[in-house]
Amino acid sequence: MTPVLEAQGLSVGYRISGGLLARSRVLPILHDINLRLEAGQTLGIVGESGCGKSTLGRALLHLIPRDGGQVLWNGDDPASLPRDALRRRRAEMQIIFQDPIAALDPRMTLGQIVSRPLATFEPGLSPADRSARVAEALRLVGLSEDFARRYPHELSGGQAQRVGIARALIGKPKVIICDEPVSALDVSIQAQVVNLLMDIQAELGLALVFISHNLAVVRQISHRIMVMCLGRVVEEAPRDAFYVRPLHPYAQALKAAVPEPDPVAERLRRGQSLQGELPSIARPPPGCVFASRCPLVQPLCHAERPALQALPGGRCAACHFIEE
Ligand SMILES: Nc1ncnc2c1ncn2[C@@H]1O[C@H](COP(=O)(O)OP(=O)(O)O)[C@@H](O)[C@H]1O
Ligand code: SF4
Ligand SMILES: [Mg+2]
Repeated sequence: MTPVLEAQGLSVGYRISGGLLARSRVLPILHDINLRLEAGQTLGIVGESGCGKSTLGRALLHLIPRDGGQVLWNGDDPASLPRDALRRRRAEMQIIFQDPIAALDPRMTLGQIVSRPLATFEPGLSPADRSARVAEALRLVGLSEDFARRYPHELSGGQAQRVGIARALIGKPKVIICDEPVSALDVSIQAQVVNLLMDIQAELGLALVFISHNLAVVRQISHRIMVMCLGRVVEEAPRDAFYVRPLHPYAQALKAAVPEPDPVAERLRRGQSLQGELPSIARPPPGCVFASRCPLVQPLCHAERPALQALPGGRCAACHFIEE
């Protein structure tokens, strides 16, 4: 089966202007990212702030240029689609953001906000059909039809994120990139929004990329977990095997950063927190990206970058000293 979304050897950098006289230069961020996502599946992407998760989301949506590799939407590279076809195909690939209120234009009604993508993706739709599509999108996110007449300032954070999801759904996407979609919400509301995304996925067979710096949040919704460190993938694994025991020392440290409800486990956890200096993504070390903070570091780790190697159980990790 063709994956709905794929990246092969993807590399991305930002162009930094060098001032009046100096030439602009490229700041490399993502290196050789490979991923594959099938319909109905969720890929959870975790990693510390600044490791390139949002950049990856934007590159998968073909919103920023890439320096190497390929992105494939249902087998087609958006970079090689004619402009009209690309505009139509963008309906397949949607995004929801971290700050739901800021993502909604305060001057527009929720009906106008939710229906707006249809003007691009299905411009020929009649007003009656457009209203029916808005009502259907609102139903999918558990909001009644009369929300279409309200304005963003009337919403709670959780309702605003539901509207953001409705707007993402209206073009009938195949994939939604969820970039920290619950990080700005109260903990009690976070679970509701995650459950809602899971219900919608079950009803529509959507594929999700769920980005978060919080391992506990991605656990419930993801089928596979991908761990990023300084713009590189350091581990990828099926969800259950990953949470039983992450293999990469960086992933183990991230897992240890999740608070434990049991006080004894919590004391143990605090002893394992991430220590040492996080290198700048602009000046990555020549060897392993985790070497400056890894409790298992050896001289080889500073000298040679470990390749991402396939391991039993459909997982892979980039470490010279993986204990299987
Ligand atoms: N538009 C941009 N121009 C230059 N650098 C950027 C831009 N956006 C992000 N960055 C840099 O790229 C790195 C990765 O950022 P980002 O992808 O937002 O990480 P994350 O989502 O994991 O927190 C950071 O060092 C950030 O400062
Ligand atoms: S390669 Fe070395 S520094 Fe990197 S994670 Fe493995 S043991 Fe730690
Ligand atoms: Mg981000």
